[in-house]
Amino acid sequence: MKKLMFPIVLILSFTLCQGHRSRCKHPSEDNLRQKLYRILPDPYLLDRSEHIPDVKMKKCPTSVNTSSELIQDRSISPWSYRINEDLNRYPRQIVEAYCLCKGCVTSKESSMVSEPFHKDIPVLYKSSKCKKSRYVYKLRYIKVAHFCICRFH
Ligand SMILES: *[C@@H]1O[C@H](CO)[C@@H](O)[C@H](O)[C@H]1NC(C)=O
Repeated sequence: MKKLMFPIVLILSFTLCQGHRSRCKHPSEDNLRQKLYRILPDPYLLDRSEHIPDVKMKKCPTSVNTSSELIQDRSISPWSYRINEDLNRYPRQIVEAYCLCKGCVTSKESSMVSEPFHKDIPVLYKSSKCKKSRYVYKLRYIKVAHFCICRFH
């Protein structure tokens, strides 16, 4: 009897595992995209592909780069872009701005600070719920930094 128990438990736990795994699947990319775009008043908000994220975080410059045509370089609170990734979210990757400096570039005044400007954007978050053998994604608004401003502390 004892000899039989071990393989039975093994098979049982194996099938339970398999069953659990196959019970709920990931919705397709198209499905998520359609769901989000139905809610999204402004789809361009997510399409920030014109902002190329940095491979390496940039440092605070000592002066404003006036030879650059980019607004983020010409700002006294310069910023750049990085990727914010969350595997339980759709879209998984969002490009967000980050401030390069704590203070502002032209001002020696310590009372001036660079601060990111946030905007709420709608995204979908994976829930533990399953519907038609697919994980249910729920709408949530998250704050995403779009650019930086210089302001008094
Ligand atoms: C200033 O911007 C130009 C154009 O984007 C770039 O080629 C140059 O390397 C920048 N200079 C500094 C000091 O970051």
